[in-house]
Amino acid sequence: MKIPVFPLIIATLLCVLRLQPLPAQTQEKPTKQLIVYFSWSGNTEKVAAALQKAVGGKPVRIEPQTPYPENYMETVLRARAEKNAIYERNDYPAIRTRLDDMEAYDTVFICYPLWLGKVAMPMQTFLHNHREMLKGKTVIPVCSSGKSPASKTLPDLKRLCPSCIVSGLFSIKREEMEKVEEVVAGWVKDLCRHKAGIAWEGNTAPANIRQDSCLKVGH
Ligand SMILES: Cc1cc2nc3c(=O)[nH]c(=O)nc-3n(C[C@H](O)[C@H](O)[C@H](O)COP(=O)(O)O)c2cc1C
Repeated sequence: MKIPVFPLIIATLLCVLRLQPLPAQTQEKPTKQLIVYFSWSGNTEKVAAALQKAVGGKPVRIEPQTPYPENYMETVLRARAEKNAIYERNDYPAIRTRLDDMEAYDTVFICYPLWLGKVAMPMQTFLHNHREMLKGKTVIPVCSSGKSPASKTLPDLKRLCPSCIVSGLFSIKREEMEKVEEVVAGWVKDLCRHKAGIAWEGNTAPANIRQDSCLKVGH
């Protein structure tokens, strides 16, 4: 009797392949990090730079369609009008920044100044425009402010990022800016210990940051 050789070879190959260990990348998928920031007077930009130094990741600056005035009071007036447009008419100020490769990232740090008790309007636009792409991603908010607590921005984050896994909420006040690198390194340690502040009730999302970032800060 003639034994069919070809199916036998296929069956043997399949058995051998099944016994092979999975390739390293599928076993341990490294997280990719994005640092999106908006800054008007430079503080948040310094925070984003310190964060990039501490955890790595790609920094992306949000550019408004029309630049803000250099004058503080004029900027406050424009921010007030934009705030009203968002909360009264769901009308967000235009920005130039658009990311189409968001699926490449697992963790997105969003760094923004607190404006008039809210997430600064251009960052609101960014979150609004990328809502679908941010679904299921770990989002780590970082708020810079004069004196107000970052927790004021929680309702905005909940509204703008309803399907994000928000992990932590970091806050830096103007008076702490002199030691920005130290402050940021402290946050990263907290994230690595999974003790990040919980953004809102019921959200127990652990920090999902690169292990090599944690090694850098000794965790
Ligand atoms: C239009 C505007 C509104 C602001 N509103 C607040 C506020 O409500 N509470 C607060 O503590 N700081 C407020 N600030 C101060 C900024 O949050 C703070 O200086 C922040 O560090 C600025 O970040 P930046 O330098 O990246 O723009 C405001 C600043 C501007 C320009």
